[in-house]
Amino acid sequence: MTLEDTCLLAKYCSKAGNPLYCHTLCFPYTRLHGENGDGGLLAVANIPKKYRNSTLERLPIKEENPKAFAIIQRYGQKVVEKVDEGVGLYLYGVPSKENPKGVGNGKTTSAIAILLEYLRERTILEAKRERKIDEVPAFFMKMAKFQNIYNSQFRGSNDSQAENGDKYQALKRKMMKCDLLVLDDIGLRGTTEALQNEIYEIIDERDTNERSTIFTSNVPLDKIAGILGEQIASRIEGMTLGVPFYGKDNRKKSL
Ligand SMILES: Nc1ncnc2c1ncn2[C@@H]1O[C@H](COP(=O)(O)OP(=O)(O)OP(=O)(O)O)[C@@H](O)[C@H]1O
Ligand SMILES: [Mg+2]
Repeated sequence: MTLEDTCLLAKYCSKAGNPLYCHTLCFPYTRLHGENGDGGLLAVANIPKKYRNSTLERLPIKEENPKAFAIIQRYGQKVVEKVDEGVGLYLYGVPSKENPKGVGNGKTTSAIAILLEYLRERTILEAKRERKIDEVPAFFMKMAKFQNIYNSQFRGSNDSQAENGDKYQALKRKMMKCDLLVLDDIGLRGTTEALQNEIYEIIDERDTNERSTIFTSNVPLDKIAGILGEQIASRIEGMTLGVPFYGKDNRKKSL
């Protein structure tokens, strides 16, 4: 069976669908998807299964958010260059009467479309021997999950605390060092000062080294200071371009 329907590289591959080459022993395929289709760089990047097909060419936001669509496409078309330049984005939902929390209008989908495009390009560059992938090129993290992993260091037996502490440190390092980080849903209320310090360290390290970060949030940037503190807010402002998302909650099925 050939892989042109599942491989994210098919669009760029002259051998897609050719039974001589397009199978699970194809090196770029295994690099990106893993031999069994559930590993590779996609797994390393921690992309939720639900979003693994959320590519740029399938981005559903054009009608409701033409400006955001244009910005995401432009970024995606030059993704390696943009990430190398350290250009970040702040994708935020704008509340309206029909959608008072500004949710479900494609922010996470858009952030992941860029992340997938980046992984595609890096996989291709590596296959052409133009640029090696040493560590984690791109990484997705949801803020609530990050908070849980952080808190797990202080719960349970001493052994599990130590183990969770190591796990947390490895995660924090990845979040600091990866070339492209997506930090999803950062507008969570009630973050403790200790957690804010951790977030600050990560963001500051990325900012200092001009590493690109894409944030998604349900609050505009001028309200982030009230949630995560002034220091974090001003860093985010300096390192990103704000992109508002309007429109209805697409998670809700219409009748
Ligand atoms: N404009 C759109 N048209 C059609 N479907 C869309 C649109 N925007 C998002 N979707 C779909 O709605 C679902 C939610 O999208 P997504 O998770 O990207 O929203 P979000 O803006 O990140 O929401 P939240 O603010 O709750 O995190 C996904 O299944 C996505 O494919
Ligand atoms: Mg989201």
